[in-house]
Amino acid sequence: MVGAKALYTAQLAVNSQIGSPRGLPQFAHDGWRLAPSDVPLSPPTWGSQQREANMTTIDIPRNTIIHGDCVQVLPQLQAGSVDFALTDPPYLARYKSRDGRGVPNDDNDRWLNPAFAALYRVLAPDSFAVSFYGWPRADRFMAAYRAAGFRVVGHFVCPKRYTSSAAFVSYRHECAHLLAKGEPAKPQRPIADVLPWDYTANKLHPTQKPLSTLKPLVLAFSRPGGLVLDPFAGSGSSLLAAQQLGRNWLGVELDAGYHAIASTRLAVAGAA
Ligand SMILES: C[S@@+](CC[C@H](N)C(=O)[O-])C[C@H]1O[C@@H](n2cnc3c(N)ncnc32)[C@H](O)[C@@H]1O
Repeated sequence: MVGAKALYTAQLAVNSQIGSPRGLPQFAHDGWRLAPSDVPLSPPTWGSQQREANMTTIDIPRNTIIHGDCVQVLPQLQAGSVDFALTDPPYLARYKSRDGRGVPNDDNDRWLNPAFAALYRVLAPDSFAVSFYGWPRADRFMAAYRAAGFRVVGHFVCPKRYTSSAAFVSYRHECAHLLAKGEPAKPQRPIADVLPWDYTANKLHPTQKPLSTLKPLVLAFSRPGGLVLDPFAGSGSSLLAAQQLGRNWLGVELDAGYHAIASTRLAVAGAA
């Protein structure tokens, strides 16, 4: 891991071009940025085996966050090279926080099927993914997982000690699916499907997930030294959980501001 100080200095020039993310200091862009002109391949035609066979892929990078669209980035990475995916895609909810922050791609599902197909491809045979989701759109998420080839083998609930919103009920939980590619081994001591939840105050991202929820998932479904992927990295919470538990990590984030926040967060934590 490059020292945080060196990273700040080397990347100040890059950051001055992308601007300061929502008032945070400008530093720690990690240089991995797949702008459209850098992308060597057109996005694949989904379901076209011929196109897939013709693709050139690159060795998977580690311990970095790629600035780009995971629908375009993941097909360029070596198939079968990720040990576990822990992700939190947009919930298709048009969410706006009280201070007006939104989540890119939360207003459309065009990315949903291609993203899960691409995620399936980069996962190792017989491995797991955990994906948070918004329950009002459960049908669309289920359809996307199954179209990609995943089996839904578990469901996690995270009860909150506070109410996020209220209408017909007081909404006080988050949820996630456990997805299997192939036939991963069953754990000797399965973890509970009810997970802790601590309020993050959403300081770094409007839907920032707590480390106390993410760490038990990393521990249960990946091994030390394995590679944990989050294709919807946001502020990098799942990657930080992986880093703190001695895993390699790889993120993809579409939004330049959140990408910079996550890169800074991981660099500072890694240098500490
Ligand atoms: C629900 S948020 C993740 C929040 C994260 N769990 C955290 O703790 O900060 C989803 C993220 O996915 C990003 N995103 C949306 N579409 C994307 C895409 N096609 N490729 C990569 N990132 C995407 C959004 O910019 C957003 O930051």
